[in-house]
Amino acid sequence: MDIPGLPARRAALNMIDAVLRRGETLDQAAGAALARVRGDADRALARAIASEALRWRTDIDALIDGATQQRLPDDAKSRAVIGIMLAQVLRLDTPPHAAIATGLPLLMGGPRRLAHGVFSTLTKRGAALPPVPTLPDGPRERWGERADAIAAGLAEPPLLDLSLKDAARTAEWAETLGGVSLAPGHVRLPRGAAIETLPGYRDGAWWVQDLAASLPARLLGPGEGRRVLDLCAAPGGKTLQLAAAGWQVTALDISKRRLERLRDNLDRTGLSAQVVTADALTWEPEAPFDAVVLDAPCTATGTCRRHPDVLHRVRRGQIADMAELQARLLERATGWLAPGGTLVYAVCSLEHEEGEDQAARVTLTPYPIGADALPSGLAPASDGWLRTDPGMLAEHGGLDGFFIARWRRD
Ligand SMILES: C[S@@+](CC[C@H](N)C(=O)[O-])C[C@H]1O[C@@H](n2cnc3c(N)ncnc32)[C@H](O)[C@@H]1O
Repeated sequence: MDIPGLPARRAALNMIDAVLRRGETLDQAAGAALARVRGDADRALARAIASEALRWRTDIDALIDGATQQRLPDDAKSRAVIGIMLAQVLRLDTPPHAAIATGLPLLMGGPRRLAHGVFSTLTKRGAALPPVPTLPDGPRERWGERADAIAAGLAEPPLLDLSLKDAARTAEWAETLGGVSLAPGHVRLPRGAAIETLPGYRDGAWWVQDLAASLPARLLGPGEGRRVLDLCAAPGGKTLQLAAAGWQVTALDISKRRLERLRDNLDRTGLSAQVVTADALTWEPEAPFDAVVLDAPCTATGTCRRHPDVLHRVRRGQIADMAELQARLLERATGWLAPGGTLVYAVCSLEHEEGEDQAARVTLTPYPIGADALPSGLAPASDGWLRTDPGMLAEHGGLDGFFIARWRRD
């Protein structure tokens, strides 16, 4: 029988391995890895350990290198296990003896003594992580002059952002929930809240959505019964916002499974939309739309605070593949606008190939984003596009990285 706490650490190790060796996302990896972990608390712990070990991986590797000259046998696994132990002690307040008792059994038949030696050397030395995670070379080079600010924003997991169904009651909900509001219809809470037990969850008064992710739908304003196509809609954060703002929404996505979550979200909030399961590259609408939101599939590097796997997994080849798909989707979305209609394009990516480079190719009339449409502290770029990243609004706890642009059809 496993010693208590070991299944959670084993799951964390499996998640890290799936991300680093097989290029899976942390969410994909969690599906299989957490299946054998009992209890919500242990599942949350496994996820937190894997996230912190990946967030601080470059610094943890440097600590390991500083404690031993020799290459560790079965290097990748040994480093991952020591990384799990260090992430717990340095980030999650686990006592060293508990990290050892639940970590070393993961190296059964392997270099346990050596791993124990490296870990003990570091803890006895009082090894510490820097205040800001060191980015791996790839993201550091790609994110250029914003890299240091983004890294600073990445040091902690994000706070909990909620979007309200009734933006007119923002102050009331902020008080009821004990949060702060950075924009109408938005409430921010400390991290770690048990979502399903919060007031308003059962009644569908709000849904979880990062502040940056709520910006694209805000740019369309009130719907007044007009028709909007939410292309790439699941799990539905933007569909809910648009329906709540009075738009008649067609929510399309290729993923049946993700659309089930969108339907659950509509049920819980009592909002409605026409849901279509289809490939946007082949689907054809019966009539053009007054507005289209294309929240395109992307590398999601802008979500690095909650998904630190993107720091190690996303490479230039994937960025290029995504950019090609985004260009095709944008071309189709552009063709489905009625005259006078508005197109909003968004990606939760920090890569210019998926953002600025895509927007530069659109042939519609630019409809620049005004600062008045944005939470205070954010400003559009000079060309009227918006770029957010985790280093922005730092004094309020940051936000995800997004690129957002808007056009009108003449
Ligand atoms: C960034 S997510 C959308 C998030 C969503 N807009 C929200 O706010 O909750 C991108 C979505 O694009 C969908 N997708 C990818 N390729 C697609 C395609 N060819 N046609 C339609 N949907 C597609 C994915 O299934 C995924 O749900």
